[in-house]
Amino acid sequence: MDKTVIKGIPSSLDVFQKAVEETLMEEVLRFFSEVPRAGQLVDPALEFDTGYYLAHRIETIHRIRMTAHTDALALAKMINEDYDLACRWGDYIVEEMKHDRLFLEDIAMHGYSTQEIIESDPLPSTLALIEYLVDRIKTLGSLPAVAYSIFVEWNSARTSRAAVQRAASVFGEQYVRGANAHQEIDERENHYEEMILIAHRLTLQRGGVTLVIQLLREITSLLQSTFKELDQLKITPRRASTAL
Ligand SMILES: [Fe+2]
Repeated sequence: MDKTVIKGIPSSLDVFQKAVEETLMEEVLRFFSEVPRAGQLVDPALEFDTGYYLAHRIETIHRIRMTAHTDALALAKMINEDYDLACRWGDYIVEEMKHDRLFLEDIAMHGYSTQEIIESDPLPSTLALIEYLVDRIKTLGSLPAVAYSIFVEWNSARTSRAAVQRAASVFGEQYVRGANAHQEIDERENHYEEMILIAHRLTLQRGGVTLVIQLLREITSLLQSTFKELDQLKITPRRASTAL
């Protein structure tokens, strides 16, 4: 994705980004203090639970496909808010909506078909997250969808490589080809920086960083609920169709 700095952005972009990242770090600390087995997908010191890992992957697929809808709602809003910015957001969301395929490819290696994943029910917290985003986009415009993407891309840049490496060490590299491809796209296209630029420009008109911080706190709370639900699930791993 084009990383050209958007014209008209004042130097306060750095201040904006710093405030966002301080909030995200606070939320990570809260995650580790409140969520059982937090970090078990990345921390080699914790026991690896294959059922938890698979449930997390399946929920990620649900979330990608459902946020494709809220991303599109946000695009419709952003076209009226800032047409040039909407073109950049449009490029981003078209890329993102195809990422389910990458994770479906990996989960197929564990014996799960695309159809059964798509037809399975998302967790209540995922439905709550989507309901929240639809509701906020209606009243606030496109920013809530961008705030969600800030979190996702920041988290991807910080922890995804470690999570992919851990899964690869347990199952083998052939089980994480999709996740690796996803990581490379995020890095090559500078998705996190792109989301910061879009959010900053949107909030110059209204809300400022305070609104982004409020949205990030609400979104991370909803995502924490997903991890609490994952902790309660008892999933027996299916024997993979290829050799485990
Ligand atoms: Fe991304």
